Amino acid sequence: MTQGAQARPGRRTVLGAAALGAAAAGAGGAAGTAHAAADRPARRGRGGYRDLPYPTVIAHRGASGYRPEHTIGAYQLALDMGAHVIEQDLVPTRDGHLVCRHENDITGTTDVADHPEFAARRTTKTVDGTSMTGWFTEDFTLAELRTLRAKERIPGVRPDNTLYDGRWTVPTFEEVLKWADREGRRRGRPVWLHAETKHPTYFRKLGLGLEEPLARLLRRYGRDGRDAPVFLQSFEPSSMQRMARLVDAPRVVLLSGAGTRPWDFTEAGDPRTVADLITPAGLKWIASYAQGIGPTLDLVIPKGPDGRLGTPTTLVRDAHRRGLILHPYTLRNENTFLPADFRRDRDTTTPGTDPNGYGDVFGAYRRYFATGIDGIFTDHPDTGLLAAADAVQD
Ligand code: G3P
Ligand code: CA
Repeated sequence: MTQGAQARPGRRTVLGAAALGAAAAGAGGAAGTAHAAADRPARRGRGGYRDLPYPTVIAHRGASGYRPEHTIGAYQLALDMGAHVIEQDLVPTRDGHLVCRHENDITGTTDVADHPEFAARRTTKTVDGTSMTGWFTEDFTLAELRTLRAKERIPGVRPDNTLYDGRWTVPTFEEVLKWADREGRRRGRPVWLHAETKHPTYFRKLGLGLEEPLARLLRRYGRDGRDAPVFLQSFEPSSMQRMARLVDAPRVVLLSGAGTRPWDFTEAGDPRTVADLITPAGLKWIASYAQGIGPTLDLVIPKGPDGRLGTPTTLVRDAHRRGLILHPYTLRNENTFLPADFRRDRDTTTPGTDPNGYGDVFGAYRRYFATGIDGIFTDHPDTGLLAAADAVQD
């Protein structure tokens, strides 16, 4: 499936949003669901991200359900599957290069522990208030990091992916930009990226601010304009405010659980929590420097004590009313990651649910897409694309 095949005029509606809302209401209520799609900001023909296919499928760390995350192999597979946007998480090396890792602790996603020459680099640090022991990107030069090989993060859940352990290095963001340019020329259309600054306050205090080198790279590769094929994202609002002063590329503020506080707020003594940011006033504040939010899926449809999806919140409607798009995270095929009502038992002869087996993820997509979200992060972009195609109608 290609991105071109997914592109569509703007009058499609979420398939059966009202009907799905009514069905959900019968199972616990769905106030606001049927209104969400209608409230969506105007889309097609306005350029840049507004012209992306809807709903937009964002390959979370690449096609990380099938390949070790944040490798060129994972990004390539996602693109070949037809993912609309490919995500990178960014952390720095000691010499200030941006590399693609979800954490600066690279113990779980590289073979660093097998390198005796780096044994003494193992250390304990406090990152954003959490103590962790391992090997950290900021203690390695890029040349040193290049000697490592990437491996599967969750081999217990995804044992087949270990087949690819050691095949790829840790990519720099510049390598990804070059790869995206190359693939874009080959395909005759831009390859969209979604780049997240990780722990920006922590790194700035180390003298390794992320935003300036990121802006330099975006300018060098022509992705700094408002219609550039890239989203910038962070859990720390001040990082997106800083990026807004450096480049015009669209920005997304990530939102964790309602009771959590962004780390930059904690450092600055700002008492606001995510609960404050998802109020109308909080969303208005975000809209003053960002184009979207990336909430955890639980902020869109909370789960009950039984782990089953409950009643959608008004977040989609409230964000759309302030012109913000929504890219919630993260939907995965495996039972262990799905809401309880979408886990599937193995078969009649083997009772019980295999946590690593696939559940009814299409059912979960239907519920989430019915809220009117603009896109979604997923480890399995091929599945997400099928669900996205199901979700729209002319
Ligand atoms: O950036 C969207 C999503 O990836 C946020 O979660 O922790 O996987 O970066 P995380
Ligand atoms: Ca991310």
